[in-house]
Amino acid sequence: MSKTTAAITAVHGYVPDRVLSNHDLEKMVDTNDEWIFTRTGIKERRLADAGEALSDFGVKIIEGILEKTGLKPEDIDMLVVGTITADYRFPSAANVICDKAGLKNAWGFDLSAACSGFLYALDIGKTYIENGTYKKVIVIGADVMSSIINYKDRATCIIFGDGGGGVLLEPNNDGLGIQDSILKSDGAGRQFLLQKIGGSVEPITKENAESDGQYVFQEGKTVFKHAVKNMADVAVEIMEKNDLTADDIAWLAPHQANLRIIDATASRMGLNNDKIMINIEKFGNTTAGTIPLLLWEYEKKMKKGDNIVLAAFGGGFTWGAIYVKWAY
Ligand code: UT7
Repeated sequence: MSKTTAAITAVHGYVPDRVLSNHDLEKMVDTNDEWIFTRTGIKERRLADAGEALSDFGVKIIEGILEKTGLKPEDIDMLVVGTITADYRFPSAANVICDKAGLKNAWGFDLSAACSGFLYALDIGKTYIENGTYKKVIVIGADVMSSIINYKDRATCIIFGDGGGGVLLEPNNDGLGIQDSILKSDGAGRQFLLQKIGGSVEPITKENAESDGQYVFQEGKTVFKHAVKNMADVAVEIMEKNDLTADDIAWLAPHQANLRIIDATASRMGLNNDKIMINIEKFGNTTAGTIPLLLWEYEKKMKKGDNIVLAAFGGGFTWGAIYVKWAY
């Protein structure tokens, strides 16, 4: 029998109904549709309703996976959630989601790696399948970015949106599923993309509550430069390591931060446009949510055995690529 791999056997996504378009943003900050679209590729993004939390996204994602597979909540062994916008600082969103979705036999935890959160979480979930510990692991990547965005800051509010998705991982002995992963980080990049206050460095107090430090800060140009180089480098590295040519790759599922970063990565990989999954125009940058949202939207277009490269870059800095053979 061949080695057990972790195969993605179902995927589901969720975005809230409320749309925030570029034209809506024109009324809120000094910006315009043309600038946003040409610089980022974004036309609109989705926003959670008041009171709609990350765990609510997670429950909808899990319900979708259970419905598609005919599994019951108690069949799930483990839940890993990549997110930076859990319901609370503690307990974890995974704890809350397991309770709300009735995953009585599962345990889980959150993983904080910003835009690379889904890739990091997928790598962890994969390990528990490969080593035989579990048979059914759900991995979610999702964020409620509107909970930490300042809608007076045009440097950030035009980019981010709310949403996410998740996958079911199961053992496979036909060589399908996750083949390889390369994950990286460089904490020296933290100064360029972070939430400055609200952590243990500077807890929120009456005095600093109005400082805007509890919102996402991003020095866009610097992050852009690192993203373009590192996302492309790691995508090419995983191709070379696995002897993959551009012809061998059916799809690139790239983190949706900026269309220019996506294009640069695809071009370094030698991929034609028709192999790039893109939905940034509709959803913007949903942080850990972008890659599972792509897999959900492109689910019907992927075929069993397709070679797919997932690639991301984000706050931390964190980045990486995962090579998957689609299993259904
Ligand atoms: O998801 C994880 C990691 N994040 C990323 O990968 C995001 C990386 N960064 C980016 O995508 C881009 O840097 C942004 C989209 C955030 C910004 O685009 P940019 O091309 O880097 O613009 P910039 O900040 O260099 O600003 C260019 C000009 C400036 O005006 P001047 O100095 O040239 O007169 C800005 O003041 O555009 C101005 N500007 C805006 N104008 C209209 C900046 N933001 C806006 C805005 N609307 N929202």
